[in-house]
Amino acid sequence: MLLLPAIRLATPADARAIAELSRDAIEVGLGWTYTPDRILTAMRSRITNVAVVYEGWHLLAAGIMDYGDLSAHLVLLGVQRAQRRRGLGRHVLTWLEACALTAGVRRISAEVRADNPGAIAFYEALGYELRDRVAGYYRPGLDALCLSKRMGA
Ligand SMILES: CC(C)(COP(=O)(O)OP(=O)(O)OC[C@H]1O[C@@H](n2cnc3c(N)ncnc32)[C@H](O)[C@@H]1OP(=O)(O)O)[C@@H](O)C(=O)NCCC(=O)NCCS
Repeated sequence: MLLLPAIRLATPADARAIAELSRDAIEVGLGWTYTPDRILTAMRSRITNVAVVYEGWHLLAAGIMDYGDLSAHLVLLGVQRAQRRRGLGRHVLTWLEACALTAGVRRISAEVRADNPGAIAFYEALGYELRDRVAGYYRPGLDALCLSKRMGA
């Protein structure tokens, strides 16, 4: 197995790079809502983990998860285009899931753009199941697929 760079919790100095990853790799065609300020707010939240993977000074991937008592929600997950299919998405999501499992969370939910077959295949490969479809969730004409994964057992 190839050794992947370490994951760590983000610090305020990472906020701009995470926001730019969201703008350029995740929110394509939707406008920029995960701005540096919003990422900083997530970092300050007591119910949220913001995780990053760097190679040198270059941000490769980032993920944000909100944790409740019994359920958690994947807010954002992105890997730089040139870095995809080397296991980084799995690396980050598995790390965020491990925190959830430790905290006693039973279910993790996520949304994905219906026009993103690669991401849908990714979540299915990671054990997420399709639960619902929300018409126009991202913008008129662009639906969300709602996915979830049962933890433990
Ligand atoms: C979805 C995303 C996070 C996946 O990250 P990644 O690092 O490329 O994924 P991994 O290399 O960890 O892939 C793990 C498994 O998922 C599946 N998978 C990932 N991308 C896939 C694709 N484009 N097509 C088909 N299957 C895919 C494969 O089974 C893969 O295992 P394999 O490479 O051994 O076959 C990444 O493509 C991305 O950032 N996309 C844009 C943003 C986005 O859609 N985020 C999610 C919604 S917020």
